[in-house]
Amino acid sequence: MTDLRFDGRVAVVTGAGQGLGRSHALELAARGAKVVVNDVGGRVDGTAEPAGGEGPAADVVERIRGNGGTAVADTSDVATEDGAQALVDTALEAYGRVDIVVNNAGILRDRSFKNITVAEWDAVVGVHLRGSFLVARAAFCHLREHGYGRIINTASPSGLFGNFGQSNYAAAKMGVVGLTRALAIEGAQYDITANAIAPVAYTRMTEDRFPAEAAERLGPEHVSPLVAWLAHEDCSTTGEVYTVGGGRIARVFVAEGPGVLLPGATAEDILDNWPDINAERPFVIPHSLAEHTEGHLQGLR
Ligand SMILES: NC(=O)c1ccc[n+]([C@@H]2O[C@H](COP(=O)([O-])OP(=O)(O)OC[C@H]3O[C@@H](n4cnc5c(N)ncnc54)[C@H](O)[C@@H]3O)[C@@H](O)[C@H]2O)c1
Repeated sequence: MTDLRFDGRVAVVTGAGQGLGRSHALELAARGAKVVVNDVGGRVDGTAEPAGGEGPAADVVERIRGNGGTAVADTSDVATEDGAQALVDTALEAYGRVDIVVNNAGILRDRSFKNITVAEWDAVVGVHLRGSFLVARAAFCHLREHGYGRIINTASPSGLFGNFGQSNYAAAKMGVVGLTRALAIEGAQYDITANAIAPVAYTRMTEDRFPAEAAERLGPEHVSPLVAWLAHEDCSTTGEVYTVGGGRIARVFVAEGPGVLLPGATAEDILDNWPDINAERPFVIPHSLAEHTEGHLQGLR
């Protein structure tokens, strides 16, 4: 079996001080990538931890160097324009290039929709969606210039399928899917791919959702090999979403059912045809707005 190596490649991994991001950074570094380990530190809800130590990013860098790898720490807040730019600048200053961007940083501020505040919405959308956009944007011109890039964004089953108390998080994560798909289309001509993962892993973010026995089975290290594959030059797959965790990986896709042709339909006609309108098979999976429009127009013929 071929060894998937990253010698000469530079990866930026956000939120890599612990949990999934740390595991991704360790995996890429062990395979020869030079890694910028970004983490602002802080609690799951994004509020600051009391000061102490050099922060989780520095700890991960120490571990990578201890394993013989190459890494540098960055403590920028990816939710800010300056922070995202500073992170990419750290990579360029330390290693002269960026090849791989893993947008992983995240926080939670769960609240039922009737009680959610604008601040809770903004904070969560700010880190996940705005942060992924800002870091990708800061890196994109460099990726374009040298005609190569691998972007891995982090979505969530919560966004793909919905979850009580997570309207902010779910909206941000489905936004990340839209961002990924648009990036895949705009990056294609420059050999820049963009894919998203929707992980299932036992971390501090999810420890109260899984039984303690799940900790080992669902360790973040079971997610990182997919990140490594999507980050590799041999992987040309783009615009896709994969759910991954505990040794299971599956593609998640947005499909459109066969639909029905009902010219001039009234609301009553729609009622009468509701089961057919909701039919799931045969389905198609459009890969762009253009493909969807083409299919829709064909359906009108
Ligand atoms: N654990 C799961 O099962 C699961 C499921 C779906 C999605 N995810 C997503 O995976 C990602 C990683 O989550 P995790 O479970 O490892 O959680 P985690 O809390 O262990 O790690 C998240 C890291 O992001 C960092 N971070 C937060 N805001 C930041 C900012 N503005 N700038 C830089 N760093 C910041 C945190 O300090 C933390 O180290 C998140 O995007 C999360 O939403 C996780």
